[in-house]
Formats: sequence, C-alpha cells, structure tokens
Amino acid sequence: MTEKNIRDAANIIADVTGKGTYLHIAMKGVSDKAVHLLVYGVMEKYYTLNFIIDELCEKIKNNLRPYMLVALYCVLYTDKPAGIVTGIVCEALTKAGKGAVKGFFTAVIAKADRADYSLPAPGQKGYEETKYNLPSWLIGMYKKEYPNKYGEIIERSEKHFTHIVPYCEEWEVFSADPNAEKTKTGYFVKNDKEIGKLFADGKVTYMSLGSTMICESVGEVNGKKILDACAAPGGKAVYLAKKGGEVIACDIHPHRMKLIESYAKRMRTKMTVLLQDAMQLKEDFIDSFDVVLCDVPCSGLGVIDKKRDIVINKKYEDILALSEAQKKILNNCSLYVKPGGTLIYSTCTVFSIENGQQTEAFLQAHSDYIKEDEVQYLPDGKGMEGFYLCRMRKN
Ligand SMILES: C[S@@+](CC[C@H](N)C(=O)[O-])C[C@H]1O[C@@H](n2cnc3c(N)ncnc32)[C@H](O)[C@@H]1O
Repeated sequence: MTEKNIRDAANIIADVTGKGTYLHIAMKGVSDKAVHLLVYGVMEKYYTLNFIIDELCEKIKNNLRPYMLVALYCVLYTDKPAGIVTGIVCEALTKAGKGAVKGFFTAVIAKADRADYSLPAPGQKGYEETKYNLPSWLIGMYKKEYPNKYGEIIERSEKHFTHIVPYCEEWEVFSADPNAEKTKTGYFVKNDKEIGKLFADGKVTYMSLGSTMICESVGEVNGKKILDACAAPGGKAVYLAKKGGEVIACDIHPHRMKLIESYAKRMRTKMTVLLQDAMQLKEDFIDSFDVVLCDVPCSGLGVIDKKRDIVINKKYEDILALSEAQKKILNNCSLYVKPGGTLIYSTCTVFSIENGQQTEAFLQAHSDYIKEDEVQYLPDGKGMEGFYLCRMRKN
C-alpha cells in the first residue's frame, strides 16, 4: 500500500460521500487492488468508522474525514502495523497539501490502535448502526417489515457471491474455475481472472442468481415478442434474447442504451434497442407484446453488498420518489401487453413500498389483470440476494 493509494482512496470516498457520486462511477478506471480494498473496506465499515472518529476526535474538518476513514480502516481492519500506516498516511497528507495535520492524525491513529474508544453496547445510541453499518432510518425499515428476522437479513446481505450464466460447455467453466458451484441457472464462481476471459469472449456473463430467476419466471420465451421497458445495462434483455425471445430493449438514458448495445454485441445476441421513456405512452406498442418486463428503477436495497454507496447516500424520500416513478411505469407499460400476455414487475429490493404494495395497488385498479405468481427473494447468505417479482396475466 502506497501513499498514492491512500490519496486515491480518500478522494474517491470524498466524491461518493460528499458529492453523492455513484461508487461504480467513482471507481471507473481504477485498477489498483489496494485502492479497491481501501474504498470498499471503508464503505462496508462506514458507520462504525465514523462513530470511532467522532469518539476519538473532538472535531474534524469535512475535508479530512475521508483521510481519517482510510487511516482508521487500515489500522483496525488490515494487518498493517499502526506505525507503518501512520508513516504512509502522513506522507499522503503532505502530498495532498495537508501536512499541517500530521500530528493530529498520528495521535488519533495511535489512540485507535490502543482501542482507546468504546463502541455502543446493546440498547445504547448507535448500537445497531455500528453493528450493521447502516443508517438508523434504514434499520427502522428492516425492523418494520421483517420484525423477527431483520438482523439475519441484513447480515446475509453482506456476503458477496459472483454468479455467472454460461453460454459455453460446462467443461469450459470448470476448467476456468474447478471450484465453480452449480445453481439453477448458472454457477457461483471464485476465480474471477480465468472466468473474466470467458466473459470477454461472450462465453459467460455475470448476472446475479435473482436476476436470472426473474427471467425464468417468464416461462417459455422462444419466438415470443418481449418488451424490456427498463433494460439497461441489458442483463435480462440478453438472457431472454438468448432463449429465443424477440426482444425490444428500451431505456430512458442514451448513455445507458449504449451499455445494452455493447452487452448484446459481446454476447453475440440480436435485439432492438430503443430510447423510450417507460412512463410515456408509445401508441404503436399498445397490445403488441406477449411479454412486458418492467424491471423498474428501484432503491437497490436488496443488493447492498454491491452498492454500499446507496445506504450512505439514499434517503427515505428517494424511495418515495422512486415508488411514484415505478407506479407510472407499471401503469403505462401494462397497456403494451397483448390480451392473454404476461406482465412482469420486478425490483432488486426487499421493501413492500416498492414491491407488493405497488403490484397490489396495480391489480386493484386493473381488473383485466390477474396475479399468477409473486416471489420476494431474501438474501440467504448462500448467494441469493433481495429480489422481487410479480407475474401477472392480462385477460
Ligand atoms: C433496475 S435497472 C434495469 C436493469 C436491467 N433490466 C438489467 O437486467 O440489466 C432500471 C433501469 O431503468 C432505467 N430507467 C429509469 N427510468 C426510466 C424510464 N422512465 N423509462 C425507461 N427506463 C428508465 C434506468 O436507466 C435503468 O437502466
């Protein structure tokens, strides 16, 4: 680990936590493993580290906090000795023009190393935030929705698994990763490097198990006309096209349409990609699809291990705004389903405000639809994450 790694990580953390930049965007082009370790490590322990900083420092300026987060992460969660961490952090501070605070950092790092702080005990303020590394409003949502198992669900959400869908012979997967573990739709893999080569060749693709289960819920798709109304980056559209569906993939953002096009190209799949707002009626789509998939924009709170920034930057009000958009998308896109056709509503979250409440309200207002299936997948610590799907049939 170098002083530059510390500066890079602190700058990325400042962007994500101060300016609200998405973590995956802030990390774009960063290939250094040490920076990954520092940034994702800090994100994972964000609430605990901040609690400790507030215990150990009477006051800390906002522009120093990202450096302190990285410094304390190194001392408390890596095997680097405190003396070494102090040296590298002080050099990083000097290079960043913050040399004046070296003494302050040295003292705080030493206190952290001596465990000169106490984390809150059960019942004390901050206990659950530091235990689960989540904001209190979000823990409140888990408690309300899952009163008897919220702790389990949160802890199981923290385990990271890489799931691939193969489009090659099984032996190719196993020679790339002999420890690959078969699932209903693909494999959990560990050897990212060798699998990465199959990925680049379009022989496998990374796709979470939950996402594949949403596609599987559509049933037989061969020859069917399918609209993926919110399609970028294209995972489900490609999956359905590979199974023989005639897919039209839409998204509202031109730059995200390009993601669908390059995904389809890498996977050597054909589909039509259109710029289309799913809330706006497109007359020539009315009654014309066998299947309409509304994989709506959502809070992503079912996949927090991959998106730690959302638990830091998202607020409850954001979820309310999203639920309004979801309702409009579902209402509008339901008009595109042929009589007898299928409408799928799906999210990657575990809260009913974006899930069951949406589909319940929709079904009550649309007597031409009946519910055929509804599944709330919960993080199980074995690779399944938090996904929701509701399959409805139009009479
Ligand atoms: C959950 S993601 C879709 C993931 C995608 N189905 C997949 O499997 O790769 C939601 C997508 O909806 C898009 N989106 C947001 N608002 C939209 C709207 N009004 N109309 C169409 N797409 C929208 C976002 O740009 C985002 O790409």
